[in-house]
Amino acid sequence: MKYFPVLLISAFFLLASCTEKRTCLDTETWLDFSVAQMSQALEILDADQAQIPRSIPPGERGWSTTGIHGWTSGFWPGLLWHAYEATDDDQWREHAHHWTMKLEPLRRWERINHDLGFMLHNSFGNGLRLTGNEDYVPILIDGADLLMSLYNPTVGTIMSWPFALERYDGRHNTIIDNMINLEYLFWASNATGDPSYREAAINHARKTARYTIRPDSSTYHVALFNMETGEFEEAVTHQGAHDQSMWARGQAWGTYGFTMAYRETGLDEFKDTARMLADKFIRELPDDLVPFWDFDAPNIPDEERDASAAAIAASALLELSELVTDTADREFYREKAVSILDALAKNYRSDGSNVAILWHSVGNRNRAEGGEVDEPIIYADYYFVEALLRERALQKRFPDFCR
Ligand code: GLY
Repeated sequence: MKYFPVLLISAFFLLASCTEKRTCLDTETWLDFSVAQMSQALEILDADQAQIPRSIPPGERGWSTTGIHGWTSGFWPGLLWHAYEATDDDQWREHAHHWTMKLEPLRRWERINHDLGFMLHNSFGNGLRLTGNEDYVPILIDGADLLMSLYNPTVGTIMSWPFALERYDGRHNTIIDNMINLEYLFWASNATGDPSYREAAINHARKTARYTIRPDSSTYHVALFNMETGEFEEAVTHQGAHDQSMWARGQAWGTYGFTMAYRETGLDEFKDTARMLADKFIRELPDDLVPFWDFDAPNIPDEERDASAAAIAASALLELSELVTDTADREFYREKAVSILDALAKNYRSDGSNVAILWHSVGNRNRAEGGEVDEPIIYADYYFVEALLRERALQKRFPDFCR
C-alpha cells in the first residue's frame, strides 16, 4: 500500500506523456472546410467545358484550368469523389460523375504518357470504388492497356515520358512519380484476371527501387536506361534543384508508391523501401513539418514550401501506419502523418480569398515561367482530402489513439 501514491504518480505521468505526444486532428472540421471551398469553386466553374481546375495564379480567386490531356486532369474529378465520400451526399456523386465523364476520350488518346494513372484511376477508379458503376470498367481497362503499351520488357519499366525522348538522347526514361500509376496496373490485373499488368508493375517497382534510390534513402527524379539493352545509364533531375538533390514531391511520390506496392503485393522488399523513403522524408522535414520544394534547395530557409509534397506524404504515412505490424511503428507513422496534416490545415490552408483548400505548393520551380510556384495546386488538395478521409477512418477504428 505504501507504494500506491508512487504508482499513481507514475501512471499519471505515463498517461500525460502519451497524451502529450499525440496530435488529435479534427477531421470533420477540415473536411467541412474542404467541401465548402469546393462548393465555391463549383459556383464559378463552367461545367459545360472540358476545362479542369489545376492551379490558382497570384491574386486570382478561381482555378485556372487544363484541358483533359494535361497531367493533372484526374485530380478535380477525384477530389469530387472524395467530397462524395466525405459527405455521402448524392449531389457530390453527380458532380463527380459529370466531371469524370469528361475524361472518357482519354481511353483513345494517342500521345500517351504514364500520367494516365493520375488521370483515369483517380477519376474513374475512385468512382468505381465508391459507386460500383460498371460503366467505368471498360474505360478503365482501355486506359490501363494504353499505359501498358509504355512498358518496355527489356528495361523492365514503363517509359514515363515518351515526349521527352529527344531531351534524353533517345533513352528510356522512368520517373519516381510513375510509382503512383502502378496502382492502376494492380487494379487492372484484379479486374481482368490477367497477371501481366501486375507483373509489369512489380518489375517496374523493383527497377525503380534499384536505380532511383540513393544510399542515403533520398530519391532521384529520372532514371535513364539504354532502350535496346535495358542497361541503366544515369539518373538526373527534372523538377529538383540539381541531379543529386532530394526533390520533395519526388520523395513523397516514392513513399506513397512503395507503400501502395506493398499493400498490393505483400512483398517485404516494398515495405522496406517505403519505410526507408518515409523515414528520410520525416528526418529531413523543417520544424513546421512542410518541406521546402527541394530538401537541398540552395537558399533554405528562403525557398518556397511545397504543401503538395506534405499532403502526399501524409496520406502515404497513414497507409504505412496501417501496414506495419509493430505497435510503436504504427503509432510513429500515424503521429507524423497527423502532425503534418495539422500543420497544413492550420498554417497552409486557403485564407478564403481563393477557392482552393491548400495554398503554397510548387509545380516546377525550374520553369522560367508558368511553374506554379507558391500557388494552390489541385493535387495538393486531392491528397490532403484523401489523407483526411484516411485519418477519419482510422479514428473510427482506433478511437483510443487520440485521447
Ligand atoms: N509529374 C508530377 C509532378 O510534378 O509531381
